[in-house]
Amino acid sequence: MRRMADCELRGRVVLLREDLNVPMDGGRITNTRRIEAALSTIREALGAGARLRLLSHLGRPQAGQSDPALSLAPVAAYLSQALDRPVPLLPWTEAVWREPPPEAGELVLHENIRFLPGEREDDPELATRLAGLCELFVMDAFATAHRAEASTHGVILKAPEACAGPLLIREVEALTRIIEAPERPLVAIIGGAKISTKIDLLNALLDRVDGLILGGGILNTLLYAQGFPVGQSLCEHDAADQARNFLAVAQARGKEIPMPVDVVVGHLPMPTSEADVRPIDKVASDEWIFDIGPRTIARYRALLSQAKTLLWNGPVGVFEYDQFAQGTEAIARAMVQSGAYTVVGGGDSLAALDRWGLADRVSYCSTAGGAFIEFVEGRPLPALEALRERGGGP
Ligand code: 3PG
Repeated sequence: MRRMADCELRGRVVLLREDLNVPMDGGRITNTRRIEAALSTIREALGAGARLRLLSHLGRPQAGQSDPALSLAPVAAYLSQALDRPVPLLPWTEAVWREPPPEAGELVLHENIRFLPGEREDDPELATRLAGLCELFVMDAFATAHRAEASTHGVILKAPEACAGPLLIREVEALTRIIEAPERPLVAIIGGAKISTKIDLLNALLDRVDGLILGGGILNTLLYAQGFPVGQSLCEHDAADQARNFLAVAQARGKEIPMPVDVVVGHLPMPTSEADVRPIDKVASDEWIFDIGPRTIARYRALLSQAKTLLWNGPVGVFEYDQFAQGTEAIARAMVQSGAYTVVGGGDSLAALDRWGLADRVSYCSTAGGAFIEFVEGRPLPALEALRERGGGP
């Protein structure tokens, strides 16, 4: 793949695709991590004298409609403050295709690209129009590299020149290090609500990891499949066969999937619910499993302390409530204390790291959710495929 660092930027019109799809609450950005991650690329391009057009999606609007709730206006305001310069937001009017590009060292932010019909369908006509906005297209949005859309795939093939941005390269390098040549033992910690939606990831990990720690609804389903009582817990009862198959394959391959010996239960899924510790076979029919228990934490800690490489996606308990946060906190602290090369991805795991101020102490925090998982599964990501197709030259 050609890299931005190898391209001439001075005085050239650069269309930079970032993933500025940040969580919002009533127009307020609730987590700025993705914007912060993009800022270094933006600064680098501006510093090199690019005439910068910035592109991103936000949420999943209905194509062909401008939804004010999904406008990038709050992102433009944030960027303007962070960069200490005006960042005009350009709506998708007909005029925008004809307007002159910004001057060297200046930038504009185009409105949510998913407001345009054809974006999600990877429409070649839209890709051609986007390509016409630039002399060089830079794909830096690793977090959306798993989507074949006009601004993440089609435009790469049609732009006069195309290359990979530094953030995308950092992400690919961090994950490749884990997948291709990890220092062993490699242990993955995977939480999440449903085993059925993460089964491809879990199967792919079985080929690569030495140990796998599971949490959340995934763990509850595995417990249920082995005959343990799970009460009212989040559990996919109809995925029990899938869960049993998975455990049988893991055992046949000699992979360690340590099961909890105790759990923390609550009586209601509410912040005020009282917490009780139960041995794994003593969860009552009116109880909910909300976290792993103290004896389990001690076992997992021992496993993590021996790891040389760690991959974390998904908390192991309802860490938003203090009384059910011990398991996730202990895992996060054990990870940073292990000294292992550690990559963390997924919004909830990153929020957990932020909660305990540990984000700066892991080796790499990925900005990606779905793309992170698909990359680890070994699936080809359309944006990366297109960049490879364009090759090392212009
Ligand atoms: C994400 O948040 O994972 C990316 O921005 C992709 O968003 P999408 O799932 O709406 O395509």
